[in-house]
Amino acid sequence: VNYGPMVFLAAFFAMASSWFAFVLKPQLQTGQMVPTNTVPAGLSYPAARPGLAQQGLQVYRENGCYYCHSKQVMQESTVFEVILIEAGTNPPALQSAIAHLAPKLAESGKALEDLPKPILASVRKDRADRAVRLLTASGAEAIPWVRPTGPDIARGWGKRRSVAEDFLFDDPVMLGSQRVGPDLANVGVRQPDINWHLRHFYAPTVVVPGSVMPPYSYLFEKRRVGLRPSPNALAGGADLGVGPGFEVVPKPEALALAAYMISLRADAPLFSAPYSVPGTLPPPETIAETNAPSANGGAPTNAPSQ
Ligand code: HEC
Repeated sequence: VNYGPMVFLAAFFAMASSWFAFVLKPQLQTGQMVPTNTVPAGLSYPAARPGLAQQGLQVYRENGCYYCHSKQVMQESTVFEVILIEAGTNPPALQSAIAHLAPKLAESGKALEDLPKPILASVRKDRADRAVRLLTASGAEAIPWVRPTGPDIARGWGKRRSVAEDFLFDDPVMLGSQRVGPDLANVGVRQPDINWHLRHFYAPTVVVPGSVMPPYSYLFEKRRVGLRPSPNALAGGADLGVGPGFEVVPKPEALALAAYMISLRADAPLFSAPYSVPGTLPPPETIAETNAPSANGGAPTNAPSQ
């Protein structure tokens, strides 16, 4: 039998299907992506990184920081809390609504003290929506509170999962896969101080005792102090191991890398990755509206399943 055409077809099929899966599909998903907006504030997201931070991205790449650091926060699920904001004018009706939702809280007799307070915690969206409807029907003001959960969120690496938009202006995108060090998707929120980063690049173990991060001292110049000390010199030279009369001055690469670090803050609440932020609650009318039974039978509309 001549297997030639079969082998050709099998190879062709394997190549073609991987082209569809690895080239065409991602291109269709993210190729035309445009900035989105934050929810509920409605600001455009993301903003392009400042020029120095853009340069820092290349320094990050050159130095292989992504070998040890990921830049993607995972999320396991989204849970909801129901927060009672105001009791309204019909306490007996509200009490019976609370007795229905949270019998223990109602029995304690303290349900209406110290508002705002959560009435339900860690429930699914449909249950939270029903509870909000019940409470608002009794004249009270209540809102659902969106809370992403998962190990990365518990570690404080982010408020929500990373989404494709977070990387819209990054080229190349360096998600990283190993986590020898902490995830850096939001390091600018945790460590907003440029000086901290510079000292940490120069001598990680001085800043974080026991750190296994390699020192990047070649991004700095150690030099004799001139007539006047350099305004850019790192503070606390003595603990960095530089003798008297010497100073450590960051090279432009180090400054760019530090600017990149503090620009890493992917913490805007988005439609595709929502979470509630204090001070940005929508007015109660819009909540009542979005919680009304909708055309799609009350299916969750803004809660991603993962
Ligand atoms: C060999 C693995 C490794 C490499 C390569 C590495 N790091 Fe780290 N990094 C770590 C470890 C481990 C920690 C945690 C201890 C510490 O804070 O020093 C860390 C911590 C950090 C932190 C502090 C994070 C926080 O949440 O406080 C930043 C910022 C950072 N690294 C940036 C970088 C940059 C930028 C590069 C590339 C120039 C880099 N790292 C290369 C292992 C690494």
